[in-house]
Amino acid sequence: MTQKNIWYEGIAFPFVGFNPELMRKAYEEFVVNEEDVLTVTFPKSGTNWLIEILCLIRSKGDATQIQSVPIWVRSPWVETVSGYEDLKTMESPRLVSTHLPIHIFPKSIHTTKAKVIYLMRNPRDVLVSGYYFWNYVKFVENTKSLQEYFELFLDGNVTHLPLFPCLDLGPRHFAFCRLPGLFQLPSILPLLSKLHEEAQASVVFGSWFDHVHGWLSLRDQKNFLLLSYEELKQDTRSTIEKICHFLGEKLEPEEINLVLKNSSFQAMKENKMSNYSLLSEVDLIHEGHGSFMRKGISGDWKNHFTVTQAEKFDKVFKEKMADLPQELFPW
Ligand code: A3P
Repeated sequence: MTQKNIWYEGIAFPFVGFNPELMRKAYEEFVVNEEDVLTVTFPKSGTNWLIEILCLIRSKGDATQIQSVPIWVRSPWVETVSGYEDLKTMESPRLVSTHLPIHIFPKSIHTTKAKVIYLMRNPRDVLVSGYYFWNYVKFVENTKSLQEYFELFLDGNVTHLPLFPCLDLGPRHFAFCRLPGLFQLPSILPLLSKLHEEAQASVVFGSWFDHVHGWLSLRDQKNFLLLSYEELKQDTRSTIEKICHFLGEKLEPEEINLVLKNSSFQAMKENKMSNYSLLSEVDLIHEGHGSFMRKGISGDWKNHFTVTQAEKFDKVFKEKMADLPQELFPW
């Protein structure tokens, strides 16, 4: 039997390396220190590129650490079992990574002055990158086709419940059961919700649209820097300088040259501490079915979406993101 994604707070997560109790504990107990630098992204937005840049800014371009320590140890993911453990004993100043939506990220985020970098990417490219990546690894339920993944991505998990095919029920919709005069069955609600979660196909980490909405609520804070994959790609040097400025790090032009060189797509593709090829040693990737460092370009969605999909995506994007200033999205 194929393994199912795990669920926490109505959101699916990979079935290896995640534990709902630990995520709950992290939410309550994990303390974000003022010296921490947080890399926050929806998966496939360029997270590891940004982490590589941050490590290199700290080392002033020297590649010794990035070539000897796995990227997930240099900047652990707070939501993973191993990341949470590593962070407990890591010396300050720490680099911390997360893909969590803000509402389930450790609540100490709301009282810290730690620096937060939120990296966004055109969600169409996030979708395509995610389709390939989640089918390449062995720790997430696979999707059958780009069309299936497309629908799941737009839906952000709320899909049709096979048990009640005539009703469009998702965890959020269970609120209606609490209305007077409708089903007054509070005791079976968690069971129904669980059945729903286990029955539906899912996209891990939930809705891109909710993720962006949640984290962008911090965008006016001084300790928050909003970046896009597109600007990083288009003018990597200026974006690295922008990050240095935000972090209060002063690098010489030659040091920036080294950051650029050692974090290039090619350099990361060849660095086994950053290219996730170490996962093959623990049998977590489908050998010969792709690579983590896939294309590293902007606009690959145009090679994948049909006209109908492109139109549908535009429509959903407009509806779901209408309340945010459109200048925030540079694609
Ligand atoms: P593609 O699948 O479109 O190639 P994440 O780190 O959030 O999982 O994002 C992975 C995406 O970032 C992949 O996109 C990967 O190729 C791209 N990426 C990683 N390092 C990069 C780099 N140095 N330059 C450009 N893109 C990079």
